Amino acid sequence: MNALTDSYTLANSVKIPCVGFGTWQTPDGETTVQSVLAALEAGYRHVDTAAVYGNEKGVGDAIKKSEINREELFITSKLWNSARGYETTLAAFEVTMEKLQLETLDLYLIHWPAAKGDPADWQKTNLDTWRAFEHLYNTKRIRAIGVSNFLPHHLEPIIRDATVQPMVNQIEFHPGFMQKESVDFCRAHNILIEAWSPLGTGKMLTDKTLAAIAAKYDKSVAQLCIRWCLQNDTLPLPKSVTPSRIRENARVFDFAISDADMATINAMPYFGGSGLNPDEINF
Ligand code: A2P
Repeated sequence: MNALTDSYTLANSVKIPCVGFGTWQTPDGETTVQSVLAALEAGYRHVDTAAVYGNEKGVGDAIKKSEINREELFITSKLWNSARGYETTLAAFEVTMEKLQLETLDLYLIHWPAAKGDPADWQKTNLDTWRAFEHLYNTKRIRAIGVSNFLPHHLEPIIRDATVQPMVNQIEFHPGFMQKESVDFCRAHNILIEAWSPLGTGKMLTDKTLAAIAAKYDKSVAQLCIRWCLQNDTLPLPKSVTPSRIRENARVFDFAISDADMATINAMPYFGGSGLNPDEINF
């Protein structure tokens, strides 16, 4: 990868720009509009939002304002947990599209799996939701479909039943939390891993090991983490509302982390994680 517009290729041949601009915890309105515009100016062409972030309208407004050709942009959103199920997914998708003010979505993800703790049959709920995703894909409302925060045992029933296989799994991924089992499982099924919170929502930035390695390359820890995701063949989604940081996070193509430094970072013990376990969340 040599530029923000270089891409990974999904299982269905759709190309996805290799770094996405994250918007989790970005308030809607001017903050979202201005930060997405700053990202587009810095060269990002891939924006990641979700119904639950509450900022799809701001993302849509920024896209409109930017006047960038729709075909150049890659826009992802996610179905919130309360809308799981067939009909409810179809309805929630229309609300998302209205807010984004788009005709077609590039990627739609199930935000979290229905899981063990659910009172209903969690496997059936995920399959019903997935059938709605397949319908939206087959009717060309969405160019690619996938999941988020799915562990292998959540993916297995879908993979067994699907007529369209998931193309992406967006998971928490940063130094100290590489989710090897999920990553290996997804690789074996040709599912691209997207990395949410590649900076550990900022918790990576004060780590001494990472700071020492970043200094060797004359780079910031944020840049090191983003580059590290790419060199691990995952797609990072760094979030910032600060224009200087947004630009900084885009400058990750003028250095390469050595094999030895990759090995050091890959071996770091668990730290800085969100602690969110997909089998135990109650939201
Ligand atoms: P802010 O949005 O106020 O600029 P993650 O992508 O892992 O979720 O991390 C996002 C957090 O890291 C946000 O708090 C963001 O702050 C901060 N952040 C993003 N990029 C940088 C950077 N280059 N330097 C320092 N902090 C950053």
